[in-house]
Amino acid sequence: MSAQIIDGKAISQIIKDELKEKTARLKEQGIEVTLAVILVGEDPASQVYVRNKKKACEYIGYRSLSYELPKETSQEELLKLIDELNNREDVNGILVQMPLPSQIDEKTVIDAISPKKDVDGFHPMNVGALCIGEKGFVSCTPAGVIQLLKRGCDGKIDIAGKECVIVGRSNIVGKPMSMLMLRENATVTVAHSKTKNLEEVCKRADILIAAVGKAGMITKDHVKEGAVVIDVGINRNEDGKLCGDVCFDEVKEIASAITPVPGGVGPMTIAMLMNNCYEAATMFR
Ligand code: GUN
Repeated sequence: MSAQIIDGKAISQIIKDELKEKTARLKEQGIEVTLAVILVGEDPASQVYVRNKKKACEYIGYRSLSYELPKETSQEELLKLIDELNNREDVNGILVQMPLPSQIDEKTVIDAISPKKDVDGFHPMNVGALCIGEKGFVSCTPAGVIQLLKRGCDGKIDIAGKECVIVGRSNIVGKPMSMLMLRENATVTVAHSKTKNLEEVCKRADILIAAVGKAGMITKDHVKEGAVVIDVGINRNEDGKLCGDVCFDEVKEIASAITPVPGGVGPMTIAMLMNNCYEAATMFR
């Protein structure tokens, strides 16, 4: 039997429409949501990401402030701008698009953003809050995966008590994903490049989350019959076509539910960024 497809595009649209409605109500109370987006340099992929984030702001009814800085911008100049935005009461969220040019240290920049405006959820204070179950901003991609699991398949996917295997241990996806699945009461295993018998480990999963960044590395031999498979990977194959970490065509014959690439996790990341912006404008009042 072929798996149910979890439609991230449709679910992200529902979330954006919910936010649009809530934002209209906030506006009636005189509250505006404002996201400041900083792009340093002219990386084409980053330009596309930033454009899509600004477009989502416009759709929902947020104000977006755009700072496009030259690639030779010094770290000091960038930190000065972040400091100004941290101190502006009319700015709720600050997003510095990564990667940054080599003269700028990403960690220093992440640490400089006020944790209360860190809508990416990258600041150590927010990462720590997630680990101990306190309120804070959660990294957008793993937060989006949780929404896909909760809203996909008509809400019929149970997480509590399930075996969840996450492949990948990045700070942005794998690690926060493990904390979120733990918070949902799954039994969590994090596999990575040094994991022995990866196929066997993955085959234990009721919910398998692939976040490695290697095209087609998860095959039917990694998947238990009836598992839910979430593909976080965004890669390009030899033909330049967008593809995930999962061999979709063969895995969909075994899984009970699966996310496609594109149209799965990808659109959820921006929807969750928009959700974090709303939280930033309302949580600290
Ligand atoms: N570059 C690629 N993904 C992201 C993201 O989620 N946030 C930021 N700030 N930069 C990125």
